[in-house]
Amino acid sequence: MKILAGSSNPELSGRLSDELGIDLLDREVMRFPDGELYARIDDVVKGETVLLVQSTYPDHNAMEFLILSRLLKDLGAYRITGIIPYFGYARQDRIFREGESFTARTMASLIEMSADDVICVNLHKEATLREFRKVGKSANVSVMADIGDFLSGFGIEYILAPDKGAVDYAREAAESCGCGFDHLEKTRIDGSTVKIAPKDLEVDGKTVCIVDDIIATGGTIMKAATALREQGAKAVYACCAHGLYTGGGMERLKPVLDGLYSSDSIENPTSGYSAARAISKAVKEMEGELDG
Ligand code: R5P
Repeated sequence: MKILAGSSNPELSGRLSDELGIDLLDREVMRFPDGELYARIDDVVKGETVLLVQSTYPDHNAMEFLILSRLLKDLGAYRITGIIPYFGYARQDRIFREGESFTARTMASLIEMSADDVICVNLHKEATLREFRKVGKSANVSVMADIGDFLSGFGIEYILAPDKGAVDYAREAAESCGCGFDHLEKTRIDGSTVKIAPKDLEVDGKTVCIVDDIIATGGTIMKAATALREQGAKAVYACCAHGLYTGGGMERLKPVLDGLYSSDSIENPTSGYSAARAISKAVKEMEGELDG
């Protein structure tokens, strides 16, 4: 088994290589002056199972996934496992209005043109995994327990999800952190505006952390942090799986939080914990190594 690291997640690929004790393939990936991709693999991959680590966000990374997976197929790889730390377009996970594109399905169908198996990390909706119709094995792994472990030294007393839909994330993180959990009541007004309804929580004088799968504009965390401070929270942290931070979200959030962290599914200065452990566990399960 070998790892092919695409350009999106070099650090995570290195951690995965350490965690699994397998080598990274020698490869060259670069862009021509017009932006088109050039890719070459210098090692022999014929007959090998290869883990291709590459997110599909933003679009140029999705194109790189397609080019690299097809290259592995053309070079005779035995099995190609697409490891997609951040699955772009996961939030368009159904047809909300007639006539619009079901983009998560489109992406899945493109990915499985060359990938034999897939491992995703904290997909926005678990059901999106079912859009992979041709792959052999598929898994959606979670970094929430890693977030809980990471928070263990922070004196966190409560972990809060911004809405009911994310309460399982809070539960998972709280279980490994050893603290309580609850959720706020969020309503989305539009793509960049959310409202957090008042809800009595036992956060007065407490150190709390908000957890979510994605931080995009930061609007959700901003409103949640404000609501928690208004209820007397002493310190407010925020952790997510995927730190997208669109339109300066990171800079806007930092001053209102005591700490802001994300995983290395999208590598950025807030990456405080890694998805490598969760992914390598899924790889081993897929290989059947944990069965015996
Ligand atoms: C929505 O359902 C997601 O779980 C996140 O809460 C959302 O994507 C965060 O977006 P933003 O940071 O723009 O509020």
